[in-house]
Amino acid sequence: MFLPNQHPDYRQPLDPVDAETLGVKAAEEVERYLACRDNPVPTPLLTLPALASELGVGAVHIKDESLRLGLGSFKALGGSYAVIRLVLEEAGRQLGRPVDIADLHTPAVRAIAASLTVACATDGNHGRSVAQGAQLIGARAAIFVHAGVSAERVAAIARFGAQLIRVEGTYDDSVAEASRVAAEKGWTVVSDTSWPGYERIPGLVMQGYTAMVREALRQLPAPPTHVFVQAGVGGVAAAVAGYLALVLGDRRPAFIVVEPARAACLLETARVGHPVKIAPGAPTVMAMLECYEPSRVAWRVLSRVADAFMTVDEEDAVAVMNRLARPGGSDPAIVAGESGGVGLAGLVRAAADPEIRVALDLDAMSRVFVINTEGATDLERYADLVGVRPETVTTGATFHARGAWA
Ligand SMILES: Cc1ncc(COP(=O)(O)O)c(C=O)c1O
Repeated sequence: MFLPNQHPDYRQPLDPVDAETLGVKAAEEVERYLACRDNPVPTPLLTLPALASELGVGAVHIKDESLRLGLGSFKALGGSYAVIRLVLEEAGRQLGRPVDIADLHTPAVRAIAASLTVACATDGNHGRSVAQGAQLIGARAAIFVHAGVSAERVAAIARFGAQLIRVEGTYDDSVAEASRVAAEKGWTVVSDTSWPGYERIPGLVMQGYTAMVREALRQLPAPPTHVFVQAGVGGVAAAVAGYLALVLGDRRPAFIVVEPARAACLLETARVGHPVKIAPGAPTVMAMLECYEPSRVAWRVLSRVADAFMTVDEEDAVAVMNRLARPGGSDPAIVAGESGGVGLAGLVRAAADPEIRVALDLDAMSRVFVINTEGATDLERYADLVGVRPETVTTGATFHARGAWA
């Protein structure tokens, strides 16, 4: 399914609140926070010439987020950043003076942090980020996980000292339960999705993702002509599209939002013209994208700056994981988790369809940017789907425990 954006707001400037959230000044601040982290190494941008030639495009560039801050996904940039900012803000209120990231480890800040609990629902990656942020600053974290979150992903969150709470039902049920319990207990919900009346904190989470786009623009030889980004609730797609629209203006690339056909809440929202909740169906292998209702803030951005919405099927996601593990020609191998290569799967589908190629002006001159949003965040699942353990995939770069690429 492929749907060009026909919303009345399409090509309108961003809402001023979103322009501030995703703008250059905010992104610089994110980078300043990031520089104070233990492992602030930029993730690599890799180029896939063999794949580009197969697909009939000029270049395919892929930002590999699989080793971001030691968490395995770009999500490491959002939740932890929002947690740290919120705790520092609260510390500033309680201490009656401005508190900055440089004060992260001061006893006064840590004493206040220890009295605070942050909560969120997660498919896995966002919860890991929130838990890591809480651990870094010394706050408590309560993470709500639905029935479909694998034991391995739950264990990875628990390693950051978070309290894990299992919830019956889907991701959306866990979002509702996290809000209910947090309101009862006075915890702060740090959600990656937004709803009416709850926008600032998910905005901060999205703001955290802008660091990835800034890095990519420094690494790319020229700005891309096309960007395909996968979506769950739409937060990362909106952060990337919004930031690019703000910094590149009329030179911004065509932006395509890619979802699993089984959980295409943004495509459905684009079809009807306003945010809708779709009925849950069969689970998708693209576990992190299994969301049935878009984030309101993300939709407000995407309705203006996304050029098209499309879906991919289960086998497309698995084929891309395999292709990246065993690439053709001189392309480097990349470990992509089930949701990691879905933007690229969108490009593969689009490139094979003559009508979509024309609709998007996709041709031999196109410079396409995609993001491997996660590595093998569930090792067993990866081995099942790719037939090899992720550590046996020889990637172009070696990541050392101390956080340097070689
Ligand atoms: C690996 C990965 N890719 C993509 C996404 C989609 O992000 P969003 O829900 O902001 O659309 C997620 C969300 O958890 C994710 O973990």
